[in-house]
Amino acid sequence: MKNPIGIIRLMKNTLIGLLVALACTFLLVISLMIFPSLSERTNRATAAVTPLYKPPQAQVAKEPWTAPDTATIPKTEQGDRIRYGRELIVHTSEYLGPNGSVKALSNGMNCQNCHLEAGSKILGNNFAAVYSTYPKFRSRSGLTESVIKRISDCFERSLNGVKPDSSSREMQAMVAYMKWVGQNTPKGVRPEGTGLVKLAYLDRAADPKAGEEIYALKCASCHGANGEGVFNANKTAYQFPPLWGKHSYNDGAGLYKLSSFAGYVVNNMPFGASYKSRMLTEEEAWDLAAYVNAQPRPHKDQTADWVDPSKKPIDFPFAPYTDSFTEQQHKFGPFAEIAKVHGK
Ligand code: HEC
Ligand code: HEC
Repeated sequence: MKNPIGIIRLMKNTLIGLLVALACTFLLVISLMIFPSLSERTNRATAAVTPLYKPPQAQVAKEPWTAPDTATIPKTEQGDRIRYGRELIVHTSEYLGPNGSVKALSNGMNCQNCHLEAGSKILGNNFAAVYSTYPKFRSRSGLTESVIKRISDCFERSLNGVKPDSSSREMQAMVAYMKWVGQNTPKGVRPEGTGLVKLAYLDRAADPKAGEEIYALKCASCHGANGEGVFNANKTAYQFPPLWGKHSYNDGAGLYKLSSFAGYVVNNMPFGASYKSRMLTEEEAWDLAAYVNAQPRPHKDQTADWVDPSKKPIDFPFAPYTDSFTEQQHKFGPFAEIAKVHGK
């Protein structure tokens, strides 16, 4: 090298190069240390949005469900069947109640009393996943059940009555409606907002005494001081359906389980409430469930149910059980310790 200044410049550049390389390595090491914790955090975020309750035999879709518009029911023979099916869900008693125009099969309640807005209301016991998940295996009967069998169940339990013939115009119409109302639900999917919410258990037993006070304040004005309900003007159906007594659902019905009753009322009662605007706390809902389901109601012989008693829901209030908890605790709780024994 002839030029000493050139050599010095070269040395200087090499030194800068080395420093830059060192700085890069340093940054790389730091970012490697940060990255795993970043990816962990992303995992945790995904875990937090995964629903805690995964209904059996069905995936959970991310999008909230909406029912199709009734104006889109086709003007065809099948469309007429769907419209009649919807009419039977809404005004069951007019057709199939004690003074029903078609046949007296049921107790005067309407399907819609419990399946709100003709089974289209989010978390109002809707029919979003009926057509998509039936036929399906149900532990209560130990059978793979069709939509017809499931509708029949509600006639025999919730409406404390007799099921319509499976080939009747009425049954076929209700099945057609189930198919129509669930048409946006892919096969096998149980969309977000289907059926009823599953509430967390209280850390105590649900309390009928506390429920009685809430009932007097928030329910009796419509459902009556004795849960008897109020008939409409021409007595063909209830304006406010009964909650107990001889015209109410029997003790084999879904609402007789405290979790179902609490899950129904917390998002839907007093009438006008919704999951977006609740009018009850979860604690009030459990106590109301305890009070209402401690009152007298029709009995259903259930000796043929639950061939495998280990499959009974935790809050199924009739023995035999495969655990050592009493009927009293299976009815009112505390449920968490029973759930623990069953790994639920
Ligand atoms: C007293 C309240 C009540 C009435 C009235 C009632 N149901 Fe139900 N129904 C329920 C409850 C609660 C469930 C969910 C039960 C469970 O799985 O524990 C249910 C479930 C169903 C299901 C299955 C839903 C699913 O996603 O698996 C169908 C179908 C059904 N009912 C149809 C009817 C029809 C049709 C009528 C009228 C003939 C009717 N129900 C009347 C309370 C009622
Ligand atoms: C403003 C009147 C009103 C009040 C107050 C009210 N409900 Fe209801 N309830 C209704 C009506 C109306 C229906 C039937 C809805 C339909 O058919 O669309 C109903 C249905 C029900 C049902 C299902 C059908 C049945 O009879 O088993 C239950 C359970 C119920 N209510 C419980 C309650 C409880 C518990 C309270 C108090 C927190 C309450 N309701 C307060 C009007 C009311």
